[in-house]
Amino acid sequence: MTSATPTGTAPHRAAVLRLHEVSHTYSGGRRRTTVLKNIDCTFERGTLTAVLGPSGSGKTTLLSLASGLDTPTRGTISFDGRDLAELGLGRYRNRHAATIFQQYNLLTYMTALQNVTTAMEITGAKPATGSRRSRALQILEDMGLDRATATRNVLRLSGGQQQRVAIARALACDVDILFADEPTGNLDEDTADGIVDTFRELAHAQGKCVIVVTHSQRLAAKADRVLTLRKGRLTERRDAEGDRGI
Ligand SMILES: Nc1ncnc2c1ncn2[C@@H]1O[C@H](COP(=O)(O)OP(=O)(O)OP(=O)(O)O)[C@@H](O)[C@H]1O
Ligand SMILES: [Mg+2]
Repeated sequence: MTSATPTGTAPHRAAVLRLHEVSHTYSGGRRRTTVLKNIDCTFERGTLTAVLGPSGSGKTTLLSLASGLDTPTRGTISFDGRDLAELGLGRYRNRHAATIFQQYNLLTYMTALQNVTTAMEITGAKPATGSRRSRALQILEDMGLDRATATRNVLRLSGGQQQRVAIARALACDVDILFADEPTGNLDEDTADGIVDTFRELAHAQGKCVIVVTHSQRLAAKADRVLTLRKGRLTERRDAEGDRGI
């Protein structure tokens, strides 16, 4: 078990999420696929982590488990020292973790704005000043979506715009951990760079733990840690030494 917390770091770098001996097997009919094998990893507040790995290597599976959408076949996952099973997966997802899904998972009968405000209502996120609506409009505008776009049904937005609504929705929920599954896959380089800078700022200025699955080396280069998932095992890239087990 390796923690990335060096002795004496600031409190906002404290461990927030821990996967302990986590394995996951999908079984359908007679076929069983073990996607994750004995993963041991700690994630801290105040850090941006990139997770790389080939298609089908289990990155989305890893995020599903760590974000409390599914439970591992073996091992435990804990938030702030409490087992998710004991904390309650629903409570964890509502209060402590937000996810930007690979397929966005927007509510398609709503506008962009309604998607964001509904998430704020469900998670109980309250802006320091002003209404949820004005805060949601501000975040959408920060993502490059003006009011006319924000008040349009999400099915009438482009793929890249929908992706930015999904990001805005997660940012609007004031949680400890932000999970993002390929969040810049549909965006041009400049827009993608802006999103990565937002993730860095959330981690470094606001002390959030941000975990991003990506195929982008450009994004990985801006992360504090780079993990690679391959054949069910997670390794950490350390520049001078190459990848090594964690
Ligand atoms: N619900 C499921 N039932 C059975 N097998 C599944 C299920 N979900 C995923 N798998 C399998 O588990 C493996 C890992 O899938 P996963 O979606 O986690 O990969 P990924 O690394 O996110 O891939 P990509 O980069 O293409 O998004 C794949 O072989 C996939 O077919
Ligand atoms: Mg995936």
